Amino acid sequence: MSTYWPKISVKRLTSFCDQLSMKIDFANLQLQYQKYKVDIDTNIQAVLNKSNYIMGEEVHELERRLEDFTGAKHAITCSSGTDALLLAMMAMDIQPDDEIITTPFTFIATAETIALMKAKPVFVDIEPDTFNIDSSLIEAAITDKTKVIMPVSLYGQPADMDTIQAIADKHNLKVIIDGAQSFGSTYNDKTDSNLGDISTTSFFPAKPLGCYGDGGAVFTNNDEYAKTIKMMRVHGQNKRYHHKYIGMGGRLDTIQVAVLLAKLPHYPQELADRQQIAKRYTDTLPVRLQMPVIRSNRSSAWAQYTVRVNNRDALQAKLKDNGIPTAVHYPMPLHLQECFQYLNHNQGDFPISEKASNEVMSLPMNSFLTNDQVDYVASKVQENI
Ligand SMILES: Cc1ncc(COP(=O)(O)O)c(C=O)c1O
Repeated sequence: MSTYWPKISVKRLTSFCDQLSMKIDFANLQLQYQKYKVDIDTNIQAVLNKSNYIMGEEVHELERRLEDFTGAKHAITCSSGTDALLLAMMAMDIQPDDEIITTPFTFIATAETIALMKAKPVFVDIEPDTFNIDSSLIEAAITDKTKVIMPVSLYGQPADMDTIQAIADKHNLKVIIDGAQSFGSTYNDKTDSNLGDISTTSFFPAKPLGCYGDGGAVFTNNDEYAKTIKMMRVHGQNKRYHHKYIGMGGRLDTIQVAVLLAKLPHYPQELADRQQIAKRYTDTLPVRLQMPVIRSNRSSAWAQYTVRVNNRDALQAKLKDNGIPTAVHYPMPLHLQECFQYLNHNQGDFPISEKASNEVMSLPMNSFLTNDQVDYVASKVQENI
């Protein structure tokens, strides 16, 4: 009996074998669950046994632990990173036509929530290397309607907070940090949850610290804001069925809290692993790429490891063929989005953001990537740029 062997080049065979051995997951939530399964299952079961699904005592326990972790005086959990931003602006009593300065190179929720408050998002372009708001352009955007500066800690790295805070102090403005992507990052050794007047985060599953549904938190050192936010997340209620403010249903449910309580003790190690993985990417990726730049007084939580490339579509397709998922955060800056047409912006208004939108590409990033996987990604990038 004769056996038929199809003709296949050594190169293709090697690539095929590589792919078989390298299954690369972008965020790898399944492996994460398997690692912490016992604690997560035990915590969830305890909530099921008690049926204390809304504002169970675990919520307060998590909030105390988040305060310890971040150094912020108050941590107030809530239903999402989006609602965290709304709660922050509600606590500051943002009014229609107030102006809030932010970046157009971010996830929609940053500016969407400003618009939901009927305030006006005022965009300021970004730094080309960190992708964060360019603090040198902020003062020119301030008017007598400006109330808040809202930097975003994009991809996990805080913005230029010293300068931003100094501008805010000079013009009597408040600072809200959209820290949805940066839980655990630092700026001059403080976490970015412990900066600004209010800082927010998201516990969306794929965020650096994620729960297994929607979730978020608001952080502040201001007692008045904390008191108001706690009321706002329960329909502005100060006593059962007595409503001081127009608020919202913005609580984090106890089952999500159970997941976070199981995961939080592992988070310092996860952050350390992300630092290592990011460093290995930077050391092994071809120098022709523009690698992420982290300023010396900051650390990133590495929500994303995002590079700039010229041939993005082709490279993404090649990487996909090799079993490597990638993502684009974000393909269109907010000033060009249809929902913000009423702000009358045009192509060219924020050129650094527009260029970034055409070039950025995020590589797989999670705490469980092995050295071999990082090297495999780097080698496939090298082959295809
Ligand atoms: C910068 C930024 N802000 C806000 C949010 C909103 O968070 P959530 O999805 O938890 O509502 C996200 C989530 O992707 C984000 O990346």
